Amino acid sequence: MTPELVLNNGVAMPALGLGVFQSPPEETAAAVETALKVGYRHVDTAAAYGNERQVGEGIRRAGVDPADVFIETKVWVSDYGYDETLHAFDKAARKIGVDRLDLLILHQPAPDRFDRTVAAYQALEKLLADGAVRAIGVSNFMRHHLDELRRRTEIVPSVNQIELHPYFSQPDVQKADAELGILTQAWSPIGGITFYPGWGEERRNVLEDPAVGTIAEAHDKTPAQVLLRWQLQHGRSAIPKSTNPGRIAENFDVFGFELTAGEMARIDGLDLGVRNGPDPEASREIFDLVIPED
Ligand code: A2P
Repeated sequence: MTPELVLNNGVAMPALGLGVFQSPPEETAAAVETALKVGYRHVDTAAAYGNERQVGEGIRRAGVDPADVFIETKVWVSDYGYDETLHAFDKAARKIGVDRLDLLILHQPAPDRFDRTVAAYQALEKLLADGAVRAIGVSNFMRHHLDELRRRTEIVPSVNQIELHPYFSQPDVQKADAELGILTQAWSPIGGITFYPGWGEERRNVLEDPAVGTIAEAHDKTPAQVLLRWQLQHGRSAIPKSTNPGRIAENFDVFGFELTAGEMARIDGLDLGVRNGPDPEASREIFDLVIPED
């Protein structure tokens, strides 16, 4: 039994999940199978990752009842709009091979088409009311996106999944989430993501930060484990990505130690305020990516 967080609608979600952003489809089923065998019971994918089908395959290969796995996926921007998002649910559920999803979230605020974003969220509200999904939420929303969504829709998102690691911890968004009763979920929780070849080559890797290294040594843990522990002790959900069996297991072995208040504060103090990932305010060509039916 992995530690769980209770969402604002009472649904329990394992705090730590396997992330599969940039997991090649041909490696994803094996990664999911490994993770479930290690003990993970939460997988986070997205229509835009192109590996929802392989997530379902990995669950079946592991021999775990899909109902015992918390399955989270995301609607891509090209499927925003009310009817389009209802259909996006059908596509995702069919690919993963389940009737119901645990958590369905909007992948981006897409400010250039926020009316469609709102309509997409209203479709999520309908799916929730119908019992097709157990919880709904958003990703990459900043405070003003959350505020506008709240003005125009009924149900408070359960989760806001944002880029969050010690070098970019978004205290402003975390505060907005907390004020609204939204659980903050960290993507790139160990700061490991490199987006495209050449993207952010000059960026610093928090896994190599000397302060993190010192804390890791003190606990006989790895830097990645310390960063995940930091996320969990702050009450956040985290979804580290790995396709490497050893690292999948390593990232799950974070429940048997505790960081001191001083260590937590030291890691809190590392924020550089610089993103690794894309700016949610920007519109991008990738928004037009068409999500296939199968
Ligand atoms: P790999 O899949 O080869 O393990 P994040 O989820 O924070 O963005 O991190 C993902 C990146 O970090 C991936 O490149 C992943 O590579 C790597 N990674 C995952 N777990 C660990 C770990 N325990 N130690 C070092 N690197 C890791």
